[in-house]
Amino acid sequence: MGTREKIETVLTRARERTAGLTDCVDGEDLVTQHSTLMSPLVWDLAHIGNQEELWLVRDVGGREPVRRDIDELYDAFKHSRNSRPSLPLLNPDEAREYLRTVRDKALDVLDGSTFRGRPLEEGGFAFGMIAQHEQQHAETMLATHQLRSGAAVLTAESAPRVGGAIAEDEVVVPAGEFTMGTSDDPWALDNERSAHPVYVPAFVIDAVPVTNARYLEFVDDGGYARPELWSERGWAHRLDAGLEAPQFWENDGCGTWWRRRFGVTEPIHPQEPVVHVCFFEAEAFARWDGKRLPTEAEWEKAARWDPFSGRSRRFPWGDGEPDASLANLGQRHLGPAVVGGYPSGASPLGVHQLIGDVWEWTSSPFEPYPGFAAFPYREYSEVFYGGDYRVLRGGSFGTDPVACRGTFRNWDHPIRRQIFSGFRCARELPGDDC
Ligand SMILES: [Fe+2]
Repeated sequence: MGTREKIETVLTRARERTAGLTDCVDGEDLVTQHSTLMSPLVWDLAHIGNQEELWLVRDVGGREPVRRDIDELYDAFKHSRNSRPSLPLLNPDEAREYLRTVRDKALDVLDGSTFRGRPLEEGGFAFGMIAQHEQQHAETMLATHQLRSGAAVLTAESAPRVGGAIAEDEVVVPAGEFTMGTSDDPWALDNERSAHPVYVPAFVIDAVPVTNARYLEFVDDGGYARPELWSERGWAHRLDAGLEAPQFWENDGCGTWWRRRFGVTEPIHPQEPVVHVCFFEAEAFARWDGKRLPTEAEWEKAARWDPFSGRSRRFPWGDGEPDASLANLGQRHLGPAVVGGYPSGASPLGVHQLIGDVWEWTSSPFEPYPGFAAFPYREYSEVFYGGDYRVLRGGSFGTDPVACRGTFRNWDHPIRRQIFSGFRCARELPGDDC
């Protein structure tokens, strides 16, 4: 597929998803703030259009502004999510009209693009960035849907319910250097760059993400009542927030846990990866299990390093794009698949479901790679470096393939769990002294 065709495909797919997430509720629902952690859906909607206008229409295309007057309203750095409902936002019809106008102009700009010249235009980067931006907001809107109360409005085919056998529960990743990050993926964002060698001592990593069944053992073993399993900050947060189980789990009082997912209450599937846990919960589970969370470099080596060639792949299965047989991405399903659901998506070492299903917490803070250069704007990554964030990797069932690859880095506060976050554990390789 050529660059132009690929751009048309990803922009169209993003817009269809945005429409699906916003046409399924009424206007009142769109302007309602369903959680103080989230924007009203109508803010995301016009913000998606505004970013597309700023980068594709005005910057790449050099065209006249469509709505310069609303730039300030939709600048994510000017208004916290909490304050957005009180802004004089475009109403749903105005927002949709604005999106259509901007998209028409952006496609016109695409028609005349050569994908050469300025770094922003090289390889269609700006278009790829805007498709990723819209899909990142679509995942955020999906999280808003999970937080809204009321009847179910989203539908999708159910994710694989039966997993294949996993050869080993844990996989040994031998000591050695591997290439982390990328210098040649044309749509990789600034924080994924550049490719650089990292020496990683030998370690052991879980072959699959931690399941609900395992997490329930931790809950039943008093995991939420044993401060020694938690970091000091984690325990303080656990008390403060009254954490007793993953978000959206409900105990029926007779010892059975249920979960609410997009308006549907159903029994917890034991073999699905646990989802909606914060970093502190993941850390406490790992300690209970005699393990720890992987570092970001360990996660990426497990996902990308090919022991036969020594090179780093784009994805665990190779360099080819994800498809429905390889990973649970793109909101094709409304939840993670059971572990073992994507045997063809495993890494050469036999680590499964690193891509898709649930974002995986790592122990690493969000920091720049050596030689980092902000591109095309500081606010994408640079202003977050050194903050109170932990890196998450791999994407979730709600992440579109255009915004997911072995090098993609996500980050969030360690207390957040409205995102589609799970984890897997790692440990040292016993007796490995070299
Ligand atoms: Fe944004």
